[in-house]
Amino acid sequence: MWTQKRVVVAVTGGIAAYKTCSLVSKLRQEGAEVKVAMTKNATSFISPECFEALARTKVYVDLWGSAEEIPHISLGQECDLVVVAPATANILAKMAHGIADDLVSTMLLAATAPVVVVPSMNAVMWEHPAVQANLKILADRGVRVVNPDVGNLACGTSGRGRFPELDRIMAEMAKAVTVQSYQGKRVLVTAGPTREYLDPVRFLSNPSTGKMGLAIAKAAWQRGAEVTLILGPCETKVPDYINHVPVVSAEEMLEAVLSHLANTDLLFMTAAVADYRPKCEAAEKIKKTQSDLSTLELTRNPDILLQVKAVRRPEQIIVGFAAETAADLVELAKKKLTAKGLDYIVANRVHKTDKGFSSSVQSEVVILGKDGSYRHYQEINKEELAHSLCDLIATANQL
Ligand code: CTP
Repeated sequence: MWTQKRVVVAVTGGIAAYKTCSLVSKLRQEGAEVKVAMTKNATSFISPECFEALARTKVYVDLWGSAEEIPHISLGQECDLVVVAPATANILAKMAHGIADDLVSTMLLAATAPVVVVPSMNAVMWEHPAVQANLKILADRGVRVVNPDVGNLACGTSGRGRFPELDRIMAEMAKAVTVQSYQGKRVLVTAGPTREYLDPVRFLSNPSTGKMGLAIAKAAWQRGAEVTLILGPCETKVPDYINHVPVVSAEEMLEAVLSHLANTDLLFMTAAVADYRPKCEAAEKIKKTQSDLSTLELTRNPDILLQVKAVRRPEQIIVGFAAETAADLVELAKKKLTAKGLDYIVANRVHKTDKGFSSSVQSEVVILGKDGSYRHYQEINKEELAHSLCDLIATANQL
C-alpha cells in the first residue's frame, strides 16, 4: 500500500508527539518515503533528531530556509498525503481559518495533497464548541479527521482525547489516498469458523482464523463501503470502524446473514462453516465410561449460500470461497460457482501443513467470475488478495 508513496508527517505541540515516532517508523517499514515537519512547540516535546533518525531525512521546522528549497510550498504539493499527528486545537484553528504563521501552518495552507488530521488533546478542549466548529469546517472542506480515542489522558484526567491506535490511523490514511469505488455500498462479510457444541464444554470446529474475511472487510471499508463482519469464534480483533456481529454456530451465522441480506449490496462469504453438527447437544457434560464412545451422530447444517441463492436480488453481488485439497481446483471452483448461484468464487489449495487457514499467505488461488473473470496466483498474501478481489469486482461491475 505505502511502497513509494510520499507522506508528509506534520507534528504539532502535544504530548502525543512521541507516539508519532511509531507512525513514522511504521510508514517507513511499509515502504513510504516520509518527510517530517514540526512546529516549534512540538520540538519541546520531542527532538527533530529523533524524527530525522526515523525518517532518514532532514526534518523541517523553520519557515526561513535556504533559497534553493521552499518547503512550505513544496512539502504539501509534492507528496501523496499530509498527516497532522498529533493535531493540537491550535493547528486545527489555524487550518480552519487560514492562518499561516509558521512552517507547518503555511505548508497546510499551500497543500494540494489530501490531508488527514489526528487531533489529540484534553477532553474538555476536544469538546469545546470552538474546536468542534473548526473540525466541522475542516471536514466539510474534505480534510479527513481521525477522532481521538477515549481513555486516560496525559493531564491526569480521562475522556475523549487520546491519540488513536496506530492501526486506525494507518487505515484512515490509506482510505484518504484510495479511490472510493465502494462509496454508498453496504458490504457484508462472514469470517472465521463455526462451533457446533456436543455438550457445554466440547465442540466440533476448524482452525479458520477469520483473517481472510477481516482483510476483505478492511479493503472494502478503505474503498468507502459500510461494512458488517459476521464473525465466528476466533482470536481476530475487529477494528471499531467495522460493524461486528459475533456468532457461534452455523445456524446463528445463517440467521445473521439472512437478517442483514436485504440491506446488503455485496456479500463475501469467507466463513469456514461446519457442514455438520451433533444431532443432539447434551445439556450436561458427557461423562466418560469404561468403553469406547462408538458413535457420534451428526446432522447436516444448512448451506448458507444456498439459502441466500433462494432469496437474493439479481443486482446483489455474492462471492463464495472454497478451500480445497483435491488437485482439480478450477473444476471444483466452477462447480461451486454454479451450484451456489455465485457471482464470483475464490478458491485456494489447502495443504496438510495448514497453509491457507492460519498462514497469512495463500498458496495457489484462483478467482473465477460468472462474468468470465479469471485470476490465478501461485502465492499471495491475504491482504493483497482482498485488495485485488475488491478492485476486480469494482472494475467488472462499474462500482
Ligand atoms: N458455505 C455455506 N454454508 C455451509 C458451508 C459452506 O454457506 N454450510 C459457504 C462457505 O462460506 C464458502 C462456500 O460455501 O463460501 C464453499 O464452502 P466449502 O466448504 O468449500 O463448500 P461446501 O459447500 O461445504 O462443499 P464441500 O465441503 O463438500 O466441498
